[in-house]
Amino acid sequence: MTTKRTSRTASRSASILHPHVLVLHGPNLNLLGSREPKHYGLATLDDIDHALVSRGESVGAQVETFQHNHEGALIERVHQAGRDHVDFILINPAGYTHTSVALRDALAAVAIPFVEVHLSNIHARESFRHHSYFSDLAVGVVSGLGAHGYELALEFALRHLQNRTPHGSQKTEKAH
Ligand code: DQA
Repeated sequence: MTTKRTSRTASRSASILHPHVLVLHGPNLNLLGSREPKHYGLATLDDIDHALVSRGESVGAQVETFQHNHEGALIERVHQAGRDHVDFILINPAGYTHTSVALRDALAAVAIPFVEVHLSNIHARESFRHHSYFSDLAVGVVSGLGAHGYELALEFALRHLQNRTPHGSQKTEKAH
């Protein structure tokens, strides 16, 4: 129907101008700052979230953050992101990286592009951390760059969204 198409186009144009990015943090990341600093650094979750929200504000993007220690709550938040037409997700699934088919399925179901972020280099640690249930679905993975990794992932997301056409496809990258 014409009216529907028009309003969808309008809402897509609004989301191109004001992209909506959700940052999801899995279990134990509420303890950042004191938790195993040799792996995760000294930045607190508040420090990380604050930097991301401020960066979003500086470019007119809405950046929302959510941390939970329960798998079901993270899954529900992903479903909500689907209903809210969130444009992009940054997710550090933390321990669920290596165990959660259900959280992976939620991301697949809503089909929102996402970057997987890890503070530590999961490939340089115990072998059970080498496998991720998310990496093959992710647009990309940032691992081992500490808190800075989230900032780089957000820059990527903003650039990625800027390159979208009003029809939702990606403009092809120009060769440099
Ligand atoms: C982590 C790495 C995971 O293996 C671990 O369970 C975490 C944090 C990271 O950010 O480096 O909780 O995702």
